[in-house]
Amino acid sequence: MDILKEAGKSKIAVGHFNFSDLVVLRAVFEAASGLRVPVMVGTSEGEREFVGVRQAVALVKSLRDEHDFPIYINADHTYSLDKVEEAAGAGYDEILFDGSKLTFKENVRQTKHAVELAKSINPEILVEGEIGYIGASSEIIEKRPKESLKLTTPEEAKQFVEETGIDVLAPAVGNMHGLLEEMVAGKIRKRLNIQRIREIKSAVEIPLTLHGGSGTDEKDFVEAINAGINIIHINTEIRLAWRRGVEEGLKSNPKEIAPYKIFPPAFRAVRKITEERLKLFNRIS
Ligand code: G3H
Ligand code: ZN
Repeated sequence: MDILKEAGKSKIAVGHFNFSDLVVLRAVFEAASGLRVPVMVGTSEGEREFVGVRQAVALVKSLRDEHDFPIYINADHTYSLDKVEEAAGAGYDEILFDGSKLTFKENVRQTKHAVELAKSINPEILVEGEIGYIGASSEIIEKRPKESLKLTTPEEAKQFVEETGIDVLAPAVGNMHGLLEEMVAGKIRKRLNIQRIREIKSAVEIPLTLHGGSGTDEKDFVEAINAGINIIHINTEIRLAWRRGVEEGLKSNPKEIAPYKIFPPAFRAVRKITEERLKLFNRIS
């Protein structure tokens, strides 16, 4: 994907936003195309089961083709080789094989298989691997998983990249999936270990992804991009905006039953948060 090379050269990060309905996908597309910046969208195993695996790809490709616009789709957090095979066969541009809960050795073994399998189906596909467990759900969570405090080391990162042949690496650098209540209330933000990102970046030569972007300190985002992050994933913030928008749409139209008349506030809320994030990631003021 050329957009990742470009991101590395111009020290920006490509925004990656998850979707499981057309409201979010179109809102993300409008935000990115309005700002004229490339974008990635992702579907986790649950999200793509809901949308339809081939249907998710077809929707994204139809936007890409009709508008000649750089929007790409990632099979986010994929846990089994069967799902890798399914996503590669369906035409995903990238697959994140997530072995982060496994031992390092087993993670290497399974990720290597995932790379070989995906590329035997589509040699152009990118495969991302993940080291360091940062929690599993893009939800409002009660407690930070304590495993997420353990950071990926540059030595692990180097060995993992060399032994698996992945194209993109997702390290644990202080990030975490989901939002704590205090983060939703804006009282605290996630903080990143910028020095560790820098060290990992000099140990490997491939693009780095930051997962768990929701609720991260904005200055940390900018410094993380300067230190070598090339893709940033946001999901919980999108889900929260969507839900609040749906509630608003229902409340202000109590008798309405046409979805396209209920969903506009959700569409606008998702487009707004996506625009804010994309501006920050792409240094647009
Ligand atoms: O892969 C999805 C992301 O890592 C989302 O994390 O829900 O904390 O924004 P987030
Ligand atoms: Zn993630």
